[in-house]
Amino acid sequence: MRVLLAPMQGVVDHAMRELLTGLGGYDRCVTEFVRVTDHRFPERVFQRYSPELNQGGRTIAGTPVFIQLLGSDPKWMAVNAVEAAKLGAPGIDLNFGCPAKTVNRSDGGSVLLQEPKRVASIVAAVRNEVDESIPVTAKIRLGYKDSSLLQDIVAGIVEAGATELCIHARTRDDGYKPPAHWSHIKRVLGIAHIPVIANGEIWNTNDAQQAQAESGCQDVMLGRGALACPDLGRQIKSQFNNSKTEVLAWMQILDSVEAFFDQSDQWSPRYVGNRTKQWLAYLKRQYEGADILFHKVKGLTKVGQIKEAIQLHREVQNKREVIECA
Ligand SMILES: Cc1cc2nc3c(=O)[nH]c(=O)nc-3n(C[C@H](O)[C@H](O)[C@H](O)COP(=O)(O)O)c2cc1C
Repeated sequence: MRVLLAPMQGVVDHAMRELLTGLGGYDRCVTEFVRVTDHRFPERVFQRYSPELNQGGRTIAGTPVFIQLLGSDPKWMAVNAVEAAKLGAPGIDLNFGCPAKTVNRSDGGSVLLQEPKRVASIVAAVRNEVDESIPVTAKIRLGYKDSSLLQDIVAGIVEAGATELCIHARTRDDGYKPPAHWSHIKRVLGIAHIPVIANGEIWNTNDAQQAQAESGCQDVMLGRGALACPDLGRQIKSQFNNSKTEVLAWMQILDSVEAFFDQSDQWSPRYVGNRTKQWLAYLKRQYEGADILFHKVKGLTKVGQIKEAIQLHREVQNKREVIECA
């Protein structure tokens, strides 16, 4: 089985990909989406989304990072895909799942799922222009309002020559509401003669097993679960291989939280700490310590204040450990 790390705009950036793939278990990452309209982006834009281009399109752990494009104009999608591939992206992923109103209003993301032929024409245009050695993958939801067009969408994507397909097992109207309907994926596996990856609502190793069983897919993609539980990829792999792995304790993750803040989250004065707070909001599902720290930092907006809060939290937690061990 393969475990993929989901693209997540605003939180799964270069620093997060390095961190999570460094813990192990992940076979592929995808960048935050590059919004394509009617021009070719200069090299620096692709470098910004994927600094990994400077290291062969892989994280330091060696995990390939596909560049994700979102848009509706086949020509400009293809032009930008060719550019990304030329710069060394090991694969191109096409986003047809974004539910955001602003994106959908400008004819991008999941709104296209209402028109399977347009989805197919975008995939075909990109596939025809990008060197055949570079995979072109698509990421979809089950549909826009419902899943009645899923067969047509999948058939079109396969016919257009996509290398793989990831299905987030919810419609656009489902948003992120549980459950994810993994069994709906199984209904289209018969017409998808390419690997299909199941995504949605996988928070632990049991969910991963259940998603595999219900969807019929070997491979899974983890989004919020990977943020809530940074070593989930490794845990899923070791369960699958019947091997043992150490489960990370909060104090081990705290160092990564601080490293993420240092690398990723201090550079735009208006948004200092936003990415770290978002990550803590997921981590607190799993770790009491993350909940405590989240409430300490959530109102803070200055680098020094946040660094101080993390340091103080570390001291308190260390003392607590000493007392508990005494
Ligand atoms: C904050 C956030 C940002 C996301 N950004 C992207 C994105 O840039 N591209 C994309 O294809 N999907 C994006 N997604 C969707 C995820 O990749 C994934 O499909 C979804 O979260 C379902 O998986 P999960 O239940 O494991 O989180 C985003 C989801 C969230 C919550």
